[in-house]
Amino acid sequence: MSSSIFRISLFILMFSQLQFPLFFSGYVNVYEEAYSKCPASFSCGIFTDIGYPFWSNDQPDYCGHPGFKLDCLGDTATIDINSQKYDIVEIYHESQILKIAKADFMSNICLINFINSTLDFNLFEYTFSDRNASLLYYCDHLTEHHQPRIQKFTCPINNRSIDCYFSAPAISSYDELSSRCKISLLIPVLALAVEGFTIHSWSIDQVIKEGFEVKWIIDHGPCNDCLISGGKCGYNRTINDFTCFCPYQPSPRTCSRMQPPANSAAANPSTAPAANGSKAC
Ligand SMILES: *[C@@H]1O[C@H](CO)[C@@H](O)[C@H](O)[C@H]1NC(C)=O
Ligand SMILES: *[C@@H]1O[C@H](CO)[C@@H](O)[C@H](O)[C@H]1NC(C)=O
Ligand SMILES: *[C@@H]1O[C@H](CO)[C@@H](O)[C@H](O)[C@H]1NC(C)=O
Ligand SMILES: *[C@@H]1O[C@H](CO)[C@@H](O)[C@H](O)[C@H]1NC(C)=O
Ligand SMILES: *[C@@H]1O[C@H](CO)[C@@H](O)[C@H](O)[C@H]1NC(C)=O
Repeated sequence: MSSSIFRISLFILMFSQLQFPLFFSGYVNVYEEAYSKCPASFSCGIFTDIGYPFWSNDQPDYCGHPGFKLDCLGDTATIDINSQKYDIVEIYHESQILKIAKADFMSNICLINFINSTLDFNLFEYTFSDRNASLLYYCDHLTEHHQPRIQKFTCPINNRSIDCYFSAPAISSYDELSSRCKISLLIPVLALAVEGFTIHSWSIDQVIKEGFEVKWIIDHGPCNDCLISGGKCGYNRTINDFTCFCPYQPSPRTCSRMQPPANSAAANPSTAPAANGSKAC
């Protein structure tokens, strides 16, 4: 007798912990649906514990900022910035820094689109760890030695090997070499990789695979406030702004402390999400 009461109360306790008031309330609105469909954190490629502003290709688009969609395929995670694909090398959530490397340079340095890629400066900025390197394609044969270090490689065109050069740090566009090559590109690389290349004989491949750093400069304040209030961070493409998805009610910035519609644990402060949780975005 007492054991069945115990079991019933245990059941109620466990069920209430699940915080599924929408089950009782009998309706599901867009906010509640978004709350349940957006994960608090997710994995992509080899990376775990990723959160807002990022979202992945298998989530609804309102789960993250439009500029931060990750494509996850096997071990790799890629992001598009200004229509260019970058492999993610590292994610530093605390400092809001991504280490990325241009995907087409990673696969074949000859088969690339000859465009200088730029960041979306509304969302990203270079960090002090970055430098420019030069890639020069279709060059006349050069004999003279250059400073900084320059390395020749060849690309096949119509069965011919054409001379191309990599220089780190970048050569000036006034450098004679530039005028003797048909195409020149600047690519961001890490300062430490420039040093590796000039001093420690790193290969071009090593320098490029090391990637470069970008800081994402969107304000995390609203997302932190949302998380602390028990919500999940999302983005509303209709109003083009951050939004906070709450389990019970529409709340564009943070979830209110209102009671859920049915008898549920969230009515009980002891089981509500920690008000001053340390979880960051
Ligand atoms: C590379 O050069 C371009 C053009 O001069 C400049 O806008 C950009 O800031 C440079 N990037 C770095 C990381 O210094
Ligand atoms: C390239 O070389 C292959 C064999 O070496 C030849 O069959 C082909 O016709 C050549 N292509 C051109 C564009 O010269
Ligand atoms: C890339 O940028 C450099 C420096 O601004 C410029 O000299 C070069 O012509 C550009 N290359 C292309 C393909 O636009
Ligand atoms: C986005 O905002 C609009 C206007 O406030 C609202 O009608 C819509 O339900 C919101 N969508 C989501 C997914 O929050
Ligand atoms: C949360 O932290 C703020 C500032 O540290 C404090 O004023 C507030 O009382 C705290 N709230 C709770 C519920 O602990």
